[in-house]
Amino acid sequence: AVLILLGPPGAGKGTQARMLEDRFGLVQLSTGDLLRAAVAAGTPAGLAAKTVMEAGGLVSDEIVLAILKDRMAEPDTARGVILDGFPRTAGQAEALDRLLAEAGGRVTAAISLEVDDAAMVGRVSGRYTCAGCGEGYHDEFKLPATAGTCDKCGGTAFKRRADDNAETVRARLQAYHAQTAPLIAHYRAMGVLETIDAMGPIESIAEGLGTIVGRVS
Ligand code: AP5
Ligand code: ZN
Repeated sequence: AVLILLGPPGAGKGTQARMLEDRFGLVQLSTGDLLRAAVAAGTPAGLAAKTVMEAGGLVSDEIVLAILKDRMAEPDTARGVILDGFPRTAGQAEALDRLLAEAGGRVTAAISLEVDDAAMVGRVSGRYTCAGCGEGYHDEFKLPATAGTCDKCGGTAFKRRADDNAETVRARLQAYHAQTAPLIAHYRAMGVLETIDAMGPIESIAEGLGTIVGRVS
């Protein structure tokens, strides 16, 4: 299965993709994570991406597609993938359709997480992750069971993203509406669009998504 999670920054794509990964044995593929790894490694793609990401803009299709194709070529993706934060432009969506068609496949479902923009600034600004295992937390909405200790791996070091400040989140929301939201019509036309109200508690959204994924895959 090839599942796409569509939604603005803070919609819960990463949170939900990690839960679906565990539950359905799928592989989460986040272009944001792959780009942050390239930035940290100081590769040429990472150097080009860094300033764009810090400003809340979109990295070029060329760089994103190169990184995505490399990752899709790894054998573990044969189990099925959840694309988190990709595609984000019409060019990326068309390139993905072509890539899948070459292997005789297509997008199984594109699930749009519907949220209120106004709430997203708070969700993103309060976010942090475990430095050891990447588990995501939030100052208000998702605290570890024991303060300062990761529920998943027991790690005690956490980090915050450079682009998670209110000003950059607004730029990212703008980029989403200008360049990514039009993809909803693309997937509707393909007959693979699903939508879910993503303003409720994390667990009930996970339940709704699980039902959709169980039905389509
Ligand atoms: P990326 O890493 O993809 O970030 P994003 O799309 O802005 O999404 P986020 O990670 O901010 O949000 P999310 O929906 O995953 O929310 P999360 O689950 O963490 O991209 C970063 C940058 O990389 C882009 O700006 C761009 O520059 C570049 N980039 C990446 N892909 C690209 C591409 N394809 N093309 C071009 N450029 C690209 O949740 C947020 C917080 O809210 C968490 O703390 C969570 O605990 C909490 N939360 C989640 N759900 C709920 C809920 N239901 N109720 C309350 N709190 C919740
Ligand atoms: Zn951890």
